[in-house]
Amino acid sequence: MCIRRRSLRAGACARYTRGMAFGCGKVILLGEHSVVYGRPALAASLASMGAEASAEPWPHARLEVEPWGVAFDVDAEQEEQPADAMQRAFRALLAGYGKPWPRARVRVQLSIPGAAGLGGSAALSVAVVRALDALRGSERTPEAVAAAALAAEYVFHGTPSGIDTAMAAGSGVALFRKDAPLEQVALERPLTLVVGHSGEVGQTKITVASVKQQYQRDPKKLEQTFGAIEALVLNARSALQHGDVADLGKLMSENQKLLNTLLLSTSRLEEMCKATENAGALGAKLTGGGGGGCMIALCAGPELAGPVLEALRKLGRDAFLVQVQP
Ligand code: MEV
Repeated sequence: MCIRRRSLRAGACARYTRGMAFGCGKVILLGEHSVVYGRPALAASLASMGAEASAEPWPHARLEVEPWGVAFDVDAEQEEQPADAMQRAFRALLAGYGKPWPRARVRVQLSIPGAAGLGGSAALSVAVVRALDALRGSERTPEAVAAAALAAEYVFHGTPSGIDTAMAAGSGVALFRKDAPLEQVALERPLTLVVGHSGEVGQTKITVASVKQQYQRDPKKLEQTFGAIEALVLNARSALQHGDVADLGKLMSENQKLLNTLLLSTSRLEEMCKATENAGALGAKLTGGGGGGCMIALCAGPELAGPVLEALRKLGRDAFLVQVQP
């Protein structure tokens, strides 16, 4: 992955024209995993990174995904579920339109790495829904698109909270809570984040299942941890609203410690977080499911991000800069 500078603007995610559609990637600033248990989380939509889809009339349903080399036809009559998760996910999205399923060739171009914690599968699902909607001449609210796309997330991730599809269909920075309206957070100043890829596969389905197991073993302890994360999230929202990036950074690092106690970090992610903090980042943490995938490091401004990027490069990790605009 090359180093890229990205600028994210609110609203860009909503763009789509007839037959064409976009779904955003995302970074979770604080609150992953506890969000599955009804606690709030803060996330930013990545408006310039995600999935772009187009749909055209076709004799049957077909999905093509680049650069993953995915291409298959869907047999609507087939009773049993296919083994392949992507095929089951596409069928789940098509089923949302009722019978007969839409006959369309949907082509998706991804500009986001998969299994990285950046919401690739949700971006793909949202883009597919928007492309099919556009082909049918209909348009839904971001909330309705996210709800429709969730059918595929159940296939990919088991028990998703819905944060990934909400951010894939949404824009800007938001506080997400399961089964509640998305709350946009107005930023006082732009956010500068360095995203570093551990090179390890992020395994959201596995890490969510592991937290569930821990919860079943000791619900009281897990609720305590989730309560502590919730306090960090709510303080982080206030820090964002007041432009207090130093506080935000500290809260992110505290969140990382708690994620580590839930066995969601890896030695590589820990090393990356430490290296970026030593290089001047205000705080750092894994983002998304963990167990690999990406981490984020908050910088005081883009002019101070160079040493942070360099620190990750020295470790042999891919990294890029993201700016989230108010
Ligand atoms: C994945 O991006 C975030 C998790 O909290 C899972 C979810 O909320 O669905 C790990």
